[in-house]
Amino acid sequence: MKEQLQRIKEAALSKISTEGTIAALNDIRVQYLGKKGELTAILKGMKDVSTEERPVVGQMVNDVREAIEKALDEVGSKIAKTVRDVQLKNEKIDVTMPAKHMEIGHRHPMNIVIDDLKKIFIGMGYEIVEGPEVEFDYYNFEALNIPANHPAKDEQDTFYIGNDILLRTQTSSVQVRVMENSQPPIKVIAPGRVFRADEVDATHSPSFHQIEGLVIDKNITMADLKGALAVFAKELYGPDVKVKFRPHHFPFTEPSAEMDVSCAVCGGKGCRMCKGTGWIEVLGCGMVHPKVLKQSGIDPDVYQGFAFGMGLERIALLRYGIDDMRLLYENDVRFLKQF
Ligand code: DAH
Repeated sequence: MKEQLQRIKEAALSKISTEGTIAALNDIRVQYLGKKGELTAILKGMKDVSTEERPVVGQMVNDVREAIEKALDEVGSKIAKTVRDVQLKNEKIDVTMPAKHMEIGHRHPMNIVIDDLKKIFIGMGYEIVEGPEVEFDYYNFEALNIPANHPAKDEQDTFYIGNDILLRTQTSSVQVRVMENSQPPIKVIAPGRVFRADEVDATHSPSFHQIEGLVIDKNITMADLKGALAVFAKELYGPDVKVKFRPHHFPFTEPSAEMDVSCAVCGGKGCRMCKGTGWIEVLGCGMVHPKVLKQSGIDPDVYQGFAFGMGLERIALLRYGIDDMRLLYENDVRFLKQF
């Protein structure tokens, strides 16, 4: 029995010393020390050992168990250390390596212009409202005094979703929605995207941006319109800018006008930007037509108002000296980065 124990010990220790994984060590532990293990089997056989021999053999079994356990622990912690060393090596971070380059975007020049205009109008007491881009013919044309066969509809050919639904051609549609839903005093601007079936070129795009303005209250006159828009122009282009109103026609305003500002590039002398005229057209405006007020539920005998609408792309092009509108939509970061 003693030789058997000696053999078990030697076999176990030599096995342990050649193993490289924790799992293999666990198998060895089960093989020798487990419930059905070889050493356990010997303990079970102790009843056949003579009384004098029993303490000696018992002591030997304990020694062998201890030796095996000690070897398992030692080799086990060695393996664990090696595994951890490999892991640490693989996870090493070189803090001196240059960081990955991160591209940070910024506001698009169009949005910079829109935000600036919003700020100006908020400062003048206007509220910002929005309307849908997919719009009913009613709000885009009919309620703005542009009936089905009106020639003004031709100038604003657009994308039709159905017979009565289209992509709005002007933010003027929002005027009607606001008037339907509220009573004066009204003082709003409505910035947003509009659409027309235009060919793409340096000055045209099928999708562009406008800001609409609408002011309605008692005793509003053309003087209020001129005053408000002159203040706006000075806020946008500086205190020296001059404004000029030219008579025009829009179906939803009467009288109607277009406003020009003195060219910011040449100061009014005439240059390439203003095509030698010294003036740049910036917006359409007028006193809201009584028919439009009435149609939207506002009594024209009590209230009057003015409205205006302007394209935003041109303001951005002029401000940044960009000579082709397509650049605004190509989203080439090399271009956009500059603003
Ligand atoms: N909606 C017009 C356009 O797109 C611009 C305009 C003109 C808006 C006169 C107005 C206005 O509110 O009163 O050409």
